[in-house]
Amino acid sequence: MIKTIEYVDGVVRMIDQTLLPSEKVFVDCKTIEEVGHAIKTMIIRGAPAIGVAAAMGVSLGADSISASNFDEFFAALEKQCDQLGKSRPTAVNLAWAINRMKQVAKDSKNLPVSELKVRLKEEALTILTEDISINKAMGQHGQTLVESGNVVLTHCNAGALATAGYGTALGVIRASIGAGKNIRVLANETRPFLQGARLTAWELKEDNIPVKLITDSMCGFFMKNKEVDLVVVGADRIAGNGDIANKIGTYMVAVLAKENNIPFYVAAPVSTLDLSLASGDEIPIEERSAEEVVNINNKRMAPEGIEVAHPAFDITPNKLVTAIITEEGIARPPFTESLKAMAQKK
Ligand code: MRU
Repeated sequence: MIKTIEYVDGVVRMIDQTLLPSEKVFVDCKTIEEVGHAIKTMIIRGAPAIGVAAAMGVSLGADSISASNFDEFFAALEKQCDQLGKSRPTAVNLAWAINRMKQVAKDSKNLPVSELKVRLKEEALTILTEDISINKAMGQHGQTLVESGNVVLTHCNAGALATAGYGTALGVIRASIGAGKNIRVLANETRPFLQGARLTAWELKEDNIPVKLITDSMCGFFMKNKEVDLVVVGADRIAGNGDIANKIGTYMVAVLAKENNIPFYVAAPVSTLDLSLASGDEIPIEERSAEEVVNINNKRMAPEGIEVAHPAFDITPNKLVTAIITEEGIARPPFTESLKAMAQKK
């Protein structure tokens, strides 16, 4: 499996996810600004991968600062972090990773600036390796919900490409297969950015995991025909009450799952919980460019001058969520209590 993101020879290297699956091009970021640009343009995307990229970006930013004492160093770092934090609004892992890096700097304030920079690089690498082990733990919990013979529907890409590796929702699928279960995946193409068609279909095929691609509008057809046993998706931010922000179209999938008595599971690390928010109404929804809606593969599909909307995420209310799979265990309703318990285990 291709590495989504790594730190090599002082640069942050990531696979350009805007070009997959037709081209495998790696982008090298040498500055925090280049990492911010990669996040904004979705060269790297998916909540946990955004968090890892942000941590590495902060390390690059720290390396570029010349300061003779901690206060000078931290003031410059905070300025860079504020800018990086604006690259995408919905996935809370961005702010989570930046805050963790800032806290490490504060906790190491007695170190000389040169050693602080080394400490921040170590932390970024820890965040990367931790992400993979978190996904594997989540997979182990999640696979207990899957039975041999099941067809699992997923939306967007919550796989190795959306994380440092293994994936959240696709981690549950990988762990199920690892446990000897014979399962198949139905992947929604996920208009307009096509993460399902371009990324999920690609990475599952690379791993020889049986996958069938459908358009988003087909998923109700397959659910009604009893060809879906469970839904597993990822999340970009989860409010304290269990409302889920995830890729646009997730809400529609959850409503259809409820209508057809199909369990709807969300797999996400504790770093995706935002318990400071009482409900999903408070989660900022990113509005992306109209160009991503009217063009497919640089070919215009809609009349010039047409008015377009492009909310990139939607909120699935907690009443439609059967359970939330985290690395600390499976949270079930009432989520206000079970999510708090997951966060406290950390
Ligand atoms: O806009 P994206 O591609 O960054 O959105 C990604 C998603 O919505 C994923 O489903 C979510 O981040 C979970 S990824 C493990």
